[in-house]
Amino acid sequence: MAKPLAIVTRRWPAALEARLADAFEVRLNADDHPFSAEELRAALNEADALCATVTDDLSAQVLSAGGRTRVIANFGVGVNHIDMDAARAQGIAVTNTPDVLTECTADLAMALLLMSARRAGEGERELRAGKWSGWRPTHLTSTRVWGKTLGIVGMGRIGIATARRAHHGFGMRVLCFNRSRVPKAVLGDLAAEQVDSLDELLPRVDFLSLHCPANPESHHLIDAASLARMRPSAHLINTARGSVVDEAALAEALGLGVIAGAGLDVYEAEPKVHPGLLALDNVVLLPHLGSGTDATREAMGLRVLDNLKAFFAGQPPPDLCT
Ligand code: DGY
Repeated sequence: MAKPLAIVTRRWPAALEARLADAFEVRLNADDHPFSAEELRAALNEADALCATVTDDLSAQVLSAGGRTRVIANFGVGVNHIDMDAARAQGIAVTNTPDVLTECTADLAMALLLMSARRAGEGERELRAGKWSGWRPTHLTSTRVWGKTLGIVGMGRIGIATARRAHHGFGMRVLCFNRSRVPKAVLGDLAAEQVDSLDELLPRVDFLSLHCPANPESHHLIDAASLARMRPSAHLINTARGSVVDEAALAEALGLGVIAGAGLDVYEAEPKVHPGLLALDNVVLLPHLGSGTDATREAMGLRVLDNLKAFFAGQPPPDLCT
């Protein structure tokens, strides 16, 4: 029997591409360019399975033409780049890769928090530019992290993993805002307090770390008004999705000293970054590296494979998105 055709929109680690090719007829993206809307439509017409990722804009317009594809197996946990209603209307199943990237993404949130607090980006730039004149008591003094208060927006898997690091590793007090009640055992382990609104959270924290999904409700959740409610000494960390933050408002707030600093891994129009942010010293900018360890990328690929194998065996894929 012919194997189903899987079209893979971006390069995967080589061992994973080989494993995919054992089970499926595979078409790879040799030069790893991001697919255009036209290429996505063509792929949906030809492939039984589309192995997509965050750079594929699978909008209602792209999906509404229909085609052959029965499953979109996303390499990544976030599926905000896929119009789920349009996929449903076309009878296309969508799967993702939860769990396996939780710890690495939480590590990166802490890395950004520490870098922003300790002005690590500024220090590295100064040293590489040959401008470091040596140790002195007043050089690049920064914010102590130990014992400070961290606000978490979105206490899902990654939010909790970040809070754990902050509380147990850095002696931080944790406050959180989440749509549903966070289980008592989780709050207890973190000695954390759940607050009822973002407005209540903002003025009480030294660091605010975003871990909510991108959806219409979270679009520009952090805007000029919410930044104005934060402490002038506070830092904003975003490893969730760029659309949660109004980048223009953030650039202005950082420039005017409304908040002290920020650490970002995600952007509103990736790979573009707001020019106002690029011009500032008090923001650390990383290129969407949250899940980017070898072990995690391998685990994500294996998760895509498991989902595809289950789907084509007529079983419910383990990570079916509803
Ligand atoms: C994820 O898994 O959502 C990462 O951000 C990459 O898309």
